[in-house]
Amino acid sequence: MSLEQRAKRVLSPVLGHYTWLPLERGEGSWLITKDGRRVLDLTCGIAVTPVGHCHPAVVRAVADQAGKLMHMNVGVATSEPAVALGEMLRDVLPSGIDTFVFQNSGAESVEGAIKFARQATGRPAIFAFRGGFHGRTIGALSVTSSKSTYRKGYLPLMPEAYIAPFPYPLGCRIRPPHDAAACTQHALDEIDQMLEHEVPSDLVAAMIVEPVLGEGGYVPAPAAFLKELREICDRIGALLILDEIQTAFGRAGAWTVADRYGVRPDILTLAKALGGGLPLGAVAASRELHAKWQTGTHGSTFGGNPVSCASGLATLRVIQEERLIERAETVGAIVEEELRPIARDERVREIRRIGAMVAVEFDDKARSKSAIAGALERDVLLITCGSHDQVVRFIPPLNIAEGDLRQGVRAFVEAAKAALEPARRGSEALSRT
Ligand SMILES: Cc1ncc(COP(=O)(O)O)c(C=O)c1O
Repeated sequence: MSLEQRAKRVLSPVLGHYTWLPLERGEGSWLITKDGRRVLDLTCGIAVTPVGHCHPAVVRAVADQAGKLMHMNVGVATSEPAVALGEMLRDVLPSGIDTFVFQNSGAESVEGAIKFARQATGRPAIFAFRGGFHGRTIGALSVTSSKSTYRKGYLPLMPEAYIAPFPYPLGCRIRPPHDAAACTQHALDEIDQMLEHEVPSDLVAAMIVEPVLGEGGYVPAPAAFLKELREICDRIGALLILDEIQTAFGRAGAWTVADRYGVRPDILTLAKALGGGLPLGAVAASRELHAKWQTGTHGSTFGGNPVSCASGLATLRVIQEERLIERAETVGAIVEEELRPIARDERVREIRRIGAMVAVEFDDKARSKSAIAGALERDVLLITCGSHDQVVRFIPPLNIAEGDLRQGVRAFVEAAKAALEPARRGSEALSRT
């Protein structure tokens, strides 16, 4: 029986699947299947492995730590990895963000951040932004709006979550179509209206925002929008939570987008690349703010697991030593350059990029799905995002070899051209009738 057949017997059908590639191992930018097929991984397992699969320094750190201590609850006793990782994070994250509570996942970190903001401010309401993805637990789901499907059968969710518009001109239904500046102004005006009509500003605990919509379509927020959110939060006494779970640690061309844009977060939520491939998340803020989170009111059995922290620490060191923050920009530019042959096709609505996060937005899901299927036939793994999966996103390892990257994007371009082809023939046929 194949691995896929076995998986379908024991793994719940609730999980959606892009592919059923039967993996044997990972080697840098490559995945190797049980039957020896080599597939270029331009997904990083959804933005988790910035230094590629099984980087020797990370494997060594994990094996060393596993041989010493695999688990101890951080509340029961202290061990080196969580403290050392906290010290490293304090050095690379925006100044003032110096204190951490480790969690196991992104959703759990968002959940923690919501609890933290509510307790520290004594206020109930949380603002979030349309298209944002923050996780699948009830609290995190309440501030998630990248796809309405995620809410199916789970309502009602957490009360006092308010969704405001996010400046995403292509996703905006206001006519006539407008640019980023007008879209930003519209989103800010809507926040004002919501504060006037729906929730008094002195009940708002926090605004949580992804500086680049991840699952929502790889849409960078204009820096001006984030700066305005900072000002609104200051004005109404709310906390600004930047969810950098998908963007931090080089992916967006900086340690954080907060740093890149010069926007000071009160709370940062981190996960994905933080654990370098092992489950790890964090709620990060200043020591002063953490002092407002009452001891004993939050916690976790596994959060700060020594092996996960050792893996995360080794990964961040590789990012630093191999100068991968700087490299992210080059990686993104190469992808963008190789995408040029399809950039002018009218069915490609936009190619956008920040750092090494690159998106190709098609005019419909059938084309994006067909393009990634065609890429996989050419041994390149890619995934989609966007409210209806109309966007193909590139999430290459930051240390990917230039030749592999160019070859991978070229394979995608060939597949995309084929995906665009039938429509071209169809429209010619139509125009002939
Ligand atoms: C920005 C952001 N926040 C939160 C999450 C949830 O993380 P997890 O799947 O680890 O719970 C994700 C996952 O995609 C994410 O991209």
